[in-house]
Amino acid sequence: MNQDELKQKVAEAAIEYVVPGTVIGIGTGSTANLFIDELAKIKGRIEGTVASSVASTERLKGHGIPVYELNDVDEVSVYIDGADEATRHLHLIKGGGGALTREKIVAAVAKKFVCIADGSKLVDVLGNFPLPVEVIPMARSYVARELSKLGGRPELRAGFTTDNGNVILDVHDLQIMEPAKLEAQINNLAGVVTVGIFALRPADVLLLGTADGVHKLGG
Ligand code: A5P
Repeated sequence: MNQDELKQKVAEAAIEYVVPGTVIGIGTGSTANLFIDELAKIKGRIEGTVASSVASTERLKGHGIPVYELNDVDEVSVYIDGADEATRHLHLIKGGGGALTREKIVAAVAKKFVCIADGSKLVDVLGNFPLPVEVIPMARSYVARELSKLGGRPELRAGFTTDNGNVILDVHDLQIMEPAKLEAQINNLAGVVTVGIFALRPADVLLLGTADGVHKLGG
């Protein structure tokens, strides 16, 4: 099976976590897109969705699935999204698609966070994938200097602006041994909007698509 087929398998498996009659949080990226397409088949069973990006909002609406503003909903039963890297502790790197801030917000609100990924995303130590950090544009140079002091090599994501009007620094050469500690440290830098480490609020369930089926970790 190729990577796309593995993503399709986890997208199908995630349907089991959809809570009927509730609002579902929807992530961003190619795996989340496949999940949206699966969700469309059972759209009559849910109340609606909240989405973590403009791109996912458009895809959901294209299927005729209601999308609400997060401020207008009282509860999100489950948040389903992909990841760029994941560990057995269910710590993640996210933000390869640049949607990390809204992803972190919806994950924070959701009662349960189900991460869906093909098996290649599972790592022992986070950091091989460059860590995305969303930054207020005027703080870009300052934050880059501070990230260098933490041992990383930040690179501005050229020609990219987030849905929130900010820039992304992708931090290379990190070996993230203490994800929650580094998440808090980077969160504390003035000008940082969001860091793409999801450890303080990790996934509750990780579904991994592999050649011998979908493996479930956690939950
Ligand atoms: C979007 O900002 C990311 O966090 C995605 O969830 C992540 O990049 C996974 O994307 P794929 O499903 O396309 O691999």
